[in-house]
Amino acid sequence: MTVIASASRMPEGMNLEVRNIRFELSEQLSKDWLDNDPFKTAFFNALSMTFPDGERFFIDSVRHYKDEVKDPKLKKEMSGFFGQEGMHSREHLTYNKALCDLRGYNQEKMEGRTKNMVRLGQKKMSPVGHLAATCGVEHITAIFADKVLNGWMLSEVDSQMRSLWKWHAAEELEHKSVAFDVYIDIGGNYKVRKLTLRMFTIHFLWNLLANTAYMLRKDKKLWKWSTLKSGFKFLFAKGGVLREFRADYLTYFDPDFHPWDDDNRHLLESWKAARAA
Ligand SMILES: [Fe+2]
Ligand SMILES: [Fe+2]
Repeated sequence: MTVIASASRMPEGMNLEVRNIRFELSEQLSKDWLDNDPFKTAFFNALSMTFPDGERFFIDSVRHYKDEVKDPKLKKEMSGFFGQEGMHSREHLTYNKALCDLRGYNQEKMEGRTKNMVRLGQKKMSPVGHLAATCGVEHITAIFADKVLNGWMLSEVDSQMRSLWKWHAAEELEHKSVAFDVYIDIGGNYKVRKLTLRMFTIHFLWNLLANTAYMLRKDKKLWKWSTLKSGFKFLFAKGGVLREFRADYLTYFDPDFHPWDDDNRHLLESWKAARAA
């Protein structure tokens, strides 16, 4: 008897639960909630600005192939992926609106950067390209998720704010292989996924830094020595974003890469146990 391999390589026994959670963040969003540090706070707020439109793009990119995927396990995971990303999009939209109302930022302008990026991608790239871009972003968010669940950056922040980022991180980690398995199943190749990650990384960093600078300028904190020093440290020093992410980021360029090569399910278990407690 021939055994047909499943297109899904997510570990057996995992279930993509769609957790419908709402967070109360107004008090935190009115101030520099991350270590009382304007740069770090603005950077994470800028990250939130990318999610509503970004997550909708990921959903659309994967949904495009819903009839082509035949493996029932992967199909079920796709539904979980749509549900989880939909919730993230909703909660970050609420976050962004509250932030902009409280601090006088222009939400349209900041979210517009992601909208433009998505529009450009949809105009210039094929559906396979969109899916490849989604796989690349999911790789970056999975690294972010691993770091956050390991206590990176957010261990001292208010519990509601920490809960939001950890919830998002945990679900990113749970569904990290879905878009990738669809990509492989529909015949996506190594060259395109490698190229799209490079392209996306440049756009994404530009988007984050442009919005970070906008918020700091609006708060009249951009050209302060303390802000510049913190920004440099946050980006380039030991424990900062670029050094923390580099090694994991580069694993994507291995032709045999798969998101579950790094089996970090123990982080999910710890997060679930902490929530239950
Ligand atoms: Fe997400
Ligand atoms: Fe995701």
